[in-house]
Amino acid sequence: MRASSLVEHRVTVVVAVLLAAAVAAAAARTKNECHSGDKAALLAIKSAFGNASFFNSWTPDTPCCEWANVSCDSSSSSTARRVVAVSFLNDAGLAGPLPGAAIARLTALQQLVLNNVPGVNGTIPHDLTRLSATLSFLTITSTGISGPVPPFLSEITALGYLSLSSNSLTGPIPASLGDMPNLYFLDLGSNRLTGTIPPLLLSKGPRRRVPIPLPQQARRRRSRRVRRPAGEPQQLELSHNDIYGDIPEQVVHLMLEYLNVSYNRLSGTVPAGGNMAWFDQSCFQHNKGLCGTPLPPCKE
Ligand SMILES: *[C@@H]1O[C@H](CO)[C@@H](O)[C@H](O)[C@H]1NC(C)=O
Ligand SMILES: *[C@@H]1O[C@H](CO)[C@@H](O)[C@H](O)[C@H]1NC(C)=O
Ligand SMILES: *[C@@H]1O[C@H](CO)[C@@H](O)[C@H](O)[C@H]1NC(C)=O
Ligand SMILES: *[C@@H]1O[C@H](CO)[C@@H](O)[C@H](O)[C@H]1NC(C)=O
Repeated sequence: MRASSLVEHRVTVVVAVLLAAAVAAAAARTKNECHSGDKAALLAIKSAFGNASFFNSWTPDTPCCEWANVSCDSSSSSTARRVVAVSFLNDAGLAGPLPGAAIARLTALQQLVLNNVPGVNGTIPHDLTRLSATLSFLTITSTGISGPVPPFLSEITALGYLSLSSNSLTGPIPASLGDMPNLYFLDLGSNRLTGTIPPLLLSKGPRRRVPIPLPQQARRRRSRRVRRPAGEPQQLELSHNDIYGDIPEQVVHLMLEYLNVSYNRLSGTVPAGGNMAWFDQSCFQHNKGLCGTPLPPCKE
């Protein structure tokens, strides 16, 4: 090989390597790029929060599945990846109302988490109901959000996990939350909620749980279904509020795995039966006039 052709050869190799790298980078880009509507929605959320530093990685020229605290579904060759989860965590610089309209444009969103973002304030936006078919996990905890626990949350029928603890929520617990077909976890603790525990919240159980004599086979099938009924909380946290009245008797018909109503103003006898024996006195402590097992006996 002559010297000049050797140089030419080297240049060709270098160009080929660079090209291959560029193609690979482009492929990676495409792989991590999300649906264009989702990307526009995320940029609208960023803008609604005044382009706060939390969003430094959310830049239009980078693939949105790589942005911090954004998760996409797995890639498929034919369709663009969808944004399925967004989290806003531990940032005092995020301030202002939750941009519900922009969030609702993430039409495949399954999980929305706000935790320890004290500057996020205002009320829980109605626009979240537009995600009723997809949003299954909603956490809004330790924020500046106030106002009621909106009854319209029950319209988000996909919702299984709802945690709204440690905010400044006021007003009653809406009975409509008892109508949610997939709800298994409800945490409304450490707010300023008032009113009584709506029996409706706990009333889905009894009708389905009346023991019906059935042949062995069918009974086994039924009892499996009964153990994991849809549409009523299996974990219910209501502690540190201003809730008064009795604990509705219906609670004994639920297959509750966790119950905590401590630090309220509840009164009357703690209902006995069902899974109630699982819960120790710490779950009922610091109420105005609750009595009976596991608390001291009621006075006649
Ligand atoms: C956020 O940045 C975008 C793009 O640079 C800009 O169009 C928008 O006005 C900014 N919004 C705020 C509230 O600063
Ligand atoms: C959110 O983004 C930050 C910064 O990249 C990262 O440290 C943190 O782990 C992320 N959290 C989640 C839940 O994605
Ligand atoms: C939200 O906080 C901002 C200051 O960060 C304040 O100006 C605004 O009035 C607050 N809004 C509500 C509804 O509390
Ligand atoms: C119930 O909540 C109270 C108050 O937050 C707490 O002290 C107690 O440990 C909780 N009980 C259980 C069993 O988690």
